Amino acid sequence: MPYTNLLIDGQDGILIVTLNRPKALNALNSKTMAELRHFFAEDAPKREGLKGVILTGAGEKAFVAGADIKEFLALDAQKGQDMARQGQDIFFLIERFPKPVIALVNGFALGGGCELAMACHLRIATPEARFGQPEVNLGLIPGYGGTQRLIQYLGKTKATELLLTADMLSAEDALRHGLLNAVLPAGEAMELAKKMVAKIAAKGPVAIAKTIEAINAYFQYDVDGFEKEVAAFGETTGTADFREGAAAFIEKRKPDFKGQ
Ligand code: HXC
Repeated sequence: MPYTNLLIDGQDGILIVTLNRPKALNALNSKTMAELRHFFAEDAPKREGLKGVILTGAGEKAFVAGADIKEFLALDAQKGQDMARQGQDIFFLIERFPKPVIALVNGFALGGGCELAMACHLRIATPEARFGQPEVNLGLIPGYGGTQRLIQYLGKTKATELLLTADMLSAEDALRHGLLNAVLPAGEAMELAKKMVAKIAAKGPVAIAKTIEAINAYFQYDVDGFEKEVAAFGETTGTADFREGAAAFIEKRKPDFKGQ
């Protein structure tokens, strides 16, 4: 598959994958999601000598500012559920990838962008990074695992605050609350990400893959919150409030929610 929205680069077995739609703050449109699926399902597993992957965003401003709101106007409740389930599956590919995947968060990581960073095994941010799940501003809920993984990283108290208020966390606060492994200026952040991949690559590869599996197993609950999120995301995409929220963002005005 020729990539148009991902730039794939790197050497010595360390691949740097850059989400490359800087004019849209690297928002995840369906093409980018298809390319991410292809990369993690088909391409990366076949690459000889692969040590790990560093995911980052193009431009000065954003890692990823969320799912592409400009594609939202075509959604209804069923398409919303399908979108959430397909996106969750792509992010599970990342979370279950047998080699380390590190998010290098170089700016806004909002909505689907925060969810993408959270699906990675480790997260390093620059001081300008901002994290949040602003979906409620649009009359929506997160759909790519945000309601589940934010609690895993931050704990219920802070996660509930962010999910309900749509407030953003600074990089320093995200570090303090356990979302990040490190905060460093851009060049140093990339150096650290590469060093971490190289350090992990020197260990037993089977042991690393099994450690990732075991860490993920900790979060298999009896009640499947990810499925609950898919159903609830679908319900919100069926509301007039959601259509109003998405239209208001695109028209650059405040939404007028009616509660239906
Ligand atoms: C599409 C987006 C976008 C997005 C930004 N842009 N975010 N386009 N989808 N998520 C576009 C803007 O429309 C604008 O394009 C350009 O990027 C620059 O953005 P500005 O808003 O002008 O920049 P700024 O004023 O600096 O504000 C930055 C920002 C803001 C705070 C990040 O862009 C913002 O709030 N973005 C939306 C964040 C969000 O709500 N994310 C969650 C989406 S829902 P133009 O062409 O106008 O210049 C989601 C659900 C995932 O992610 C689950 C799905 C199942």
